[in-house]
Amino acid sequence: MQDISQLLEVLHFRHACKLFDNDKKISKENLNFILESARLAPSSFGMEHWRFIVIKNQELKKILKPFCWDQAQITTCDALIAIVAKHKLVSTPSYYEAMFARKGIDADATQAYIKKYANYIHVLPSIKAWSEKQCYIAASNIMNYSAMIGIDSCPIEGFERENVEKVLGIDDSKESMPLFVALGYRTNLQTPKHRLPLDEIVEIVE
Ligand SMILES: Cc1cc2nc3c(=O)[nH]c(=O)nc-3n(C[C@H](O)[C@H](O)[C@H](O)COP(=O)(O)O)c2cc1C
Repeated sequence: MQDISQLLEVLHFRHACKLFDNDKKISKENLNFILESARLAPSSFGMEHWRFIVIKNQELKKILKPFCWDQAQITTCDALIAIVAKHKLVSTPSYYEAMFARKGIDADATQAYIKKYANYIHVLPSIKAWSEKQCYIAASNIMNYSAMIGIDSCPIEGFERENVEKVLGIDDSKESMPLFVALGYRTNLQTPKHRLPLDEIVEIVE
């Protein structure tokens, strides 16, 4: 277990970094750790709705930047992670059946899971939106675990979906790309954090 005051320090260290020092690179070991934190993120029914495109290539970042509101994070970060939602795959029986089968539980329980899942996704208003929500959970792990090892991040939703997905070769009948997380090292001091007080946002029911 970690010390709470140290964890709070990490939470305060994490901020939406607007400008990275492009000369400072993330080590392979650190990047692997960050990606591992994404891999281990929870997802609805354990379907791991995501895949990650880690863009280190500066030319590709430059192509993307104009479609991302020209945000400086895109080209100054070291690694730009595009989190892709696999909405078609998670609604494909061969995929979700295998995901339940890997649990190693008995055949009846597996079938029960599969049935419950099929019924669940059948009534969802949008499987795409549901899959995208899971991507934000992985993004949260990426940002918080990066902060734990002194790496800065910025979540980025400010981009033209259609154009970015086209550049990344994402077939929107199968997948979508709801957000990037840019990673690197800050150049400027972070701005003060503004948050509503806990008593305004929490209700404890005993
Ligand atoms: C899903 C999501 C998308 C965001 N998109 C952008 C973005 O495109 N550009 C940006 O500079 N900040 C973006 N932000 C950062 C927020 O503005 C920031 O997290 C918020 O103002 C709180 O500040 P802090 O993260 O520094 O504590 C995004 C945050 C989230 C969670």
